[in-house]
Amino acid sequence: MSSIESASSAVVSREAAVHPQWSSRLAFILAATGSAVGLGNIWKFPYITGENGGGAFVLVYLLCILVVGLPILAAEILLGRRSGCSPIKGMTLLARRDAVSLRWGWMAWVGFVAAFVLLSFYSVVGGWSLAYIGLAAQGFFSGADAATIGGLFGQLLEDPGALLLWHSVFMLLVVLITGSGVRAGMERSIKLLMPLLFVLLLVLVGYAAVRGNFAQALSFLFSPDFSKLSTEGVLTALGHAFFTLSTGICVMMAYGSYLPPQVNIARTVVTIGLLDTLVALLAGLAIFPLVFANGLEPGAGPGLIFVTLPLAFGQMTGGVLFGTLFFILLLVAAVTSAISMIEPVVEWLEDKGVSRMLGALMSGAMIWLLGVCTVLSFNVWADFHPLDFMARFEGKTLFDLFDFLVSNLALPIGGLAIALYAGWAMKPQTLRDGIGLGDGAVFTLFHFVLRFLSPAAVLVVFVYNLG
Ligand code: PFF
Repeated sequence: MSSIESASSAVVSREAAVHPQWSSRLAFILAATGSAVGLGNIWKFPYITGENGGGAFVLVYLLCILVVGLPILAAEILLGRRSGCSPIKGMTLLARRDAVSLRWGWMAWVGFVAAFVLLSFYSVVGGWSLAYIGLAAQGFFSGADAATIGGLFGQLLEDPGALLLWHSVFMLLVVLITGSGVRAGMERSIKLLMPLLFVLLLVLVGYAAVRGNFAQALSFLFSPDFSKLSTEGVLTALGHAFFTLSTGICVMMAYGSYLPPQVNIARTVVTIGLLDTLVALLAGLAIFPLVFANGLEPGAGPGLIFVTLPLAFGQMTGGVLFGTLFFILLLVAAVTSAISMIEPVVEWLEDKGVSRMLGALMSGAMIWLLGVCTVLSFNVWADFHPLDFMARFEGKTLFDLFDFLVSNLALPIGGLAIALYAGWAMKPQTLRDGIGLGDGAVFTLFHFVLRFLSPAAVLVVFVYNLG
């Protein structure tokens, strides 16, 4: 061991001793699944699938999860666990320990900024679920037709005051939960609420199977027609694989920093990936049968679930109860993801000696402020398209641009950096010891994927999109 390495491992173990840790593997799985399963699965996956023509997009997305997302997620968690502190401090620490250029530290800064921007618009959409809890509970959907329900969503978007209110409430929730460090309470509620969300999604799929056009939905989702998939669609699928697994922007690195050494990362990552994919596919199976049965447009965009599901709740028995419960669970899924996005920022401030609550408040306030741009982009600034001079960004609002910046650029680029760091900068022995795949053929395959396949996939998709 070089002197640099032994000195910094001494720092690492000293830090690990004072750094809090998850109470168990289950606790980590719950928190990480809480981060992964969110609006990305239930809100975003269906609408981008609809916009990109269905089956071929789903297939590419699943491939991206398997070949790119999961290996990088495992590597990211390992980097976090090895560093034992916030990503910004941790990446420099690791670079020193692995005796490579300290410039790798920039990777964490990219993630830091991306998580900041991501939470700013995620919170606005999280606010929509808050608004919809109220609408569902008051019976607004009962017996309403598609036009009326579509109108409700339109009204919400056109009202900056309402959007701002719900965005503020959502951010406040995130700040309070993060600041008070009530993870233990969160863990307990995730244990109960996640399975409940799952059951409710199954109920909705059952309803959609009976009342919707299930056959058409199945063929839309699972028979690939590659003529409907553009190169930008492939980039969106790749970006979404990162988005849905919460990997690429050091958020899982922050969570990994609390992970006890005995937990098997590979097995944990497979569990997270399976649960996450299942929830997204169930959401698709609940939504598209209703889209087709009601003559709605699959490519309708971000409002898709806020129009189709209320239609179902409005027609089913017990719809007020189911509808209210569904939007409460959607909110929980969104909050458990949002608290992971703010974690790298808060952990960094904590490393600098700021208290958790103050750190959460300060970062929350700045993120909230940026979120106001997203709020306005749906109404007052709807015609403000700052990048109209570039053909590819023509007509894109601030919200569209923030989403593109994070989902299609920052997440894949951050993921690429993580793959390159773990595959090339780290010693294979260190990777092997940490990842939990043994030292046989499976590890060799994993190492190959991380070194060549995942980076190549990201680069090829980028080059095609630039071309
Ligand atoms: N995975 C979350 C979702 O699917 O909603 C979103 C997310 C959380 C993305 C954390 C990125 C991240 F770092």
